[in-house]
Amino acid sequence: MKITVIGTGYVGLVSGICFAKLGHQVVCVDKDYSKINGLKQEIIPIFEPNLKELLLSVKSDKKISFTTDLNQALQGSQAVFIAVGTPQGEDGSADLSYVLGAAQEIAQYSQSFKVIVTKSTVPANTGAKIREIVAKINPQLDFAIVSNPEFLREGSAIEDFMNPDRVIIGVEDEKAKKIMAEIYQDFADNKILYTDIITAELIKYASNSFLATKISFINEMADLCEKTGGDIKLLSSGLGLDSRIGNKFLNPGPGFGGSCFPKDILAILNIASENGVKLSLIDAVIKSNKLRQEKMTARILNAFDGVYKNKKIALLGLAFKGNTDDIRYSPAIKIASNLAKKSLQIFAHDPEAIANAKKELAQFNNIRYFDNAYEATEDADLIVIATEWKNFSELDLIKIKTISKAKKIVDLRNIIDATAARMAGFEYIGIGQK
Ligand code: UGA
Repeated sequence: MKITVIGTGYVGLVSGICFAKLGHQVVCVDKDYSKINGLKQEIIPIFEPNLKELLLSVKSDKKISFTTDLNQALQGSQAVFIAVGTPQGEDGSADLSYVLGAAQEIAQYSQSFKVIVTKSTVPANTGAKIREIVAKINPQLDFAIVSNPEFLREGSAIEDFMNPDRVIIGVEDEKAKKIMAEIYQDFADNKILYTDIITAELIKYASNSFLATKISFINEMADLCEKTGGDIKLLSSGLGLDSRIGNKFLNPGPGFGGSCFPKDILAILNIASENGVKLSLIDAVIKSNKLRQEKMTARILNAFDGVYKNKKIALLGLAFKGNTDDIRYSPAIKIASNLAKKSLQIFAHDPEAIANAKKELAQFNNIRYFDNAYEATEDADLIVIATEWKNFSELDLIKIKTISKAKKIVDLRNIIDATAARMAGFEYIGIGQK
């Protein structure tokens, strides 16, 4: 089937390339000429493992093309996916201007039946708004609205797309339902849940809110372990063995970040308050996560027993999580900026996020960047792990002990083996451990 995808950001690009891998004929559209030109030359504007290889494969099969011309891209396509950004508005609500702008253009250029699908994360009732806009601009057009939210995690987006726990399709039109079923025909029937449009829109926000709540919950349990002498790793395992709870998203850390959870929990609060509903639990999660980053900063400062001015910290990790160069709402960035403001010297390293971090932290001249984790530790008084990159768990601690003057490791992700760190001669401070 011919599919048009509007937006070549994270969601649009991964979805477009994956749809092409499923055998569909995909046209990806973006207003940004340089992005489209780059993609024509196989230049991927984001960091996502294996995406380039997949692009090369679908390009050689002639299953994907890139254009800035939406009119041309819509010719002959039955389904058009809107995958543009919904940035956070000033009041925390999702800014729908790109989504509704795309809907207007679809209406202007479409001449035959179209299934207009939102992949972007949009508040409840956005489908109805799109329907209104399209019907007003092009009253003759035969079309249907569908909500098909994405559940892709940065760093494992291809796996999440190709092997999803579920595909949610909010659809209220039989012809559109058949088209969506054809698009996702490679997935088992029990992976697909058909709902009405508003429920599909809400499922996306509810999922991210629930996951964010799970993380805040385990972070607070880690605090409790520290005070009582419990062990958070064992506590997480004990909780996760209950299939009603599940063992994922129970790793404590410096708080959740990224472009989705922080934005989406504010947006769901906004949707709720517009509808006169109080989500006190979500309110608490927002507060808990904010406090978490301050607490983790205090933990690092405490490692110097109160005398921290001009001390040198090797900060390993800047991205909001491992396997990405994304630093949006990254707890590591917040902690770096907190420490820099307190006049500590920071020697920062991240496998992929240095370029982005340099821009974000440009105002600080007490942060230096290192391409190599070992070099970052050499002149440091303390080593801090802030992002769960796998290679940080594999660092040669004996080597670090010989080249670095640091005596302590503060591991905000619990990814270093505490016994190995102590055997190497470090004092090890993890999360939620004795
Ligand atoms: C999240 C969701 O997991 C995706 O399902 C969703 O599609 C996406 O948002 C979106 O709305 O587009 P993502 O932001 O890529 O994906 O990142 P996650 O892997 O969910 O991690 C979010 C944050 O939680 C990170 O800062 C991570 O370090 C933290 N986290 C995660 C923990 O602190 N502990 C955990 O156990 C898991």
